[in-house]
Amino acid sequence: MARKNQLAGDSHWWRNAVVYQIYPRSFADANGDGIGDLAGIISRVDYLASLGIDAVWMSPFYPSALADGGYDVDDYMDIDPRIGNLDQFDELVEKLHSNNIRVFVDIVPNHSSDRHEWFQEALAAKPGSPERDRYIFRDGRGENGDLPPSNLASHFGPEGWTRTPDGQWYMHLFTKEQPDFNWDNPEVEEYFLKTLRFWSDRGVDGFRIDVAHALKKNLDPLPDRDSYALSVMKDDGTDPLFDRDEVQDVYRQWRKVFNEYDPPRVAVAEAWVHPHRRPPYASEEGLGQAFNFDLLASGWNAEQFKNVISDNIAMSDQTGSSSTWVLSNHDVIRHATRFAIPGYGLSPDSFDLENQWYVNHRLDHDLDLDMGLSRAKAATLLMLALPGSSYIYQGEELGLHDVVDIPSEQMQDPQWFRGEGKFKSRDGCRVPLPWEASGPSFGFGPGGSHLPQPKWYADVAVSVQEADSSSTLALYRGALKLRRELYTSDELQWLDVKPGLLAFRRSPSWICVTNFSDEPIEISGEVILASAEITGNLLPANATAWLSSL
Ligand code: NOJ
Ligand code: CA
Repeated sequence: MARKNQLAGDSHWWRNAVVYQIYPRSFADANGDGIGDLAGIISRVDYLASLGIDAVWMSPFYPSALADGGYDVDDYMDIDPRIGNLDQFDELVEKLHSNNIRVFVDIVPNHSSDRHEWFQEALAAKPGSPERDRYIFRDGRGENGDLPPSNLASHFGPEGWTRTPDGQWYMHLFTKEQPDFNWDNPEVEEYFLKTLRFWSDRGVDGFRIDVAHALKKNLDPLPDRDSYALSVMKDDGTDPLFDRDEVQDVYRQWRKVFNEYDPPRVAVAEAWVHPHRRPPYASEEGLGQAFNFDLLASGWNAEQFKNVISDNIAMSDQTGSSSTWVLSNHDVIRHATRFAIPGYGLSPDSFDLENQWYVNHRLDHDLDLDMGLSRAKAATLLMLALPGSSYIYQGEELGLHDVVDIPSEQMQDPQWFRGEGKFKSRDGCRVPLPWEASGPSFGFGPGGSHLPQPKWYADVAVSVQEADSSSTLALYRGALKLRRELYTSDELQWLDVKPGLLAFRRSPSWICVTNFSDEPIEISGEVILASAEITGNLLPANATAWLSSL
């Protein structure tokens, strides 16, 4: 029986929602085992409500061996016992809903973990069996089949095929513990429809869809691939591995399930595709929204920001959806730290996966951390003034930097271990949050922390920032509160301003102006909120102000 959603009624809530991403293992730990849990999140709902967000998105909390931070799912309809149980999940949803906060969960449909019941059955069954057909098993090449079926790399290392004890091979676009499902098998389709209903029935409002562009593949002939650079991916729907046109058939089915509920469940696609291929994922017949990572890939540059904003508003107009905006998440260098890299993102290729500075810049030298934080706050204030929906990542409201000095032996990220030194570890943005200035894990919990926390956490803890009206946390709270009051339509009008500035009007009394230059620039108008202290009429370098007139 579907649970009555306490927040039924408004079917457009997602259009300009501010969604806060929780990485459950690193948010708050109630029982002191060093791993964040649902009881920890429940104990911090007041904090979430105090931020003024509209929804939370929880990264995977499913049973998992953590080969890829939980994106290797053992059971899609359960909770990792280290994180909690379904009763606690229900309690959390109820508590969030009673604070007017919606809930997104993460769905990982491209691959399961190798511990998933179906994969274990597949290994136990014979080549050619129905059990194997739920995944992608093939014979190897060469006389004894000991060469992989094709020359396929994975995202996290050289091999995209792994051999089983009986000699067959299975395909995995990520780690070998993440076998890819065969999405041409109706059983797989049914299983995910059941999963979506399972969580929707528990009152979940929306879904974030992992690697949404990879489900459908053309495996005849088996593709070779040695790079996941976007430039290698075809952009016309015919790439053998990614963004094939027929993946939208899957989402049209899902949409029918979403529309069985009141309000209809919503979804956002994580699809690292050529930007012009994003609209189908965001269509009303499909998932309805798609992440736009273009701001996250932009350098600190007024022109790049302006182009990204204009292009994405135009794209969302094509589908009738609203745009999404993201500056940080659990996969990339936090934006405060990215903007601290001298020359960050000025390369024209910075969106190319091969050259993704936001992922693989080694953070071992040359960081201007103060400048990074100023730019990050300015970028956030700009983002929160845009029409559409913004996704913020836990800890960015504290202005956290990546933790750059985690010893290799304490790293957990497969991207680090399998990346042959090419990629930075994503652990740096996944370190448990500091709630207090002292204590065994800075208030994360009564015990330790599963990733080492740095000493500087003492200066940026929630308790410290709550006592400081000029803190980053105060800025986020102020901005989210004002945004609710000021956001009256999706209109955005660019304003003609001095070089170095970027400005737009959102309503007669809401103007956003950002100084991308290295010098203060004089502005006129009444400041209602700013990312830096304004003296006289000068907007400091690397700062954004919201004005009630210009
Ligand atoms: C995208 C997720 O955000 C990332 O953390 C994960 O490693 C891959 N998908 C594989 O599931
Ligand atoms: Ca715990």
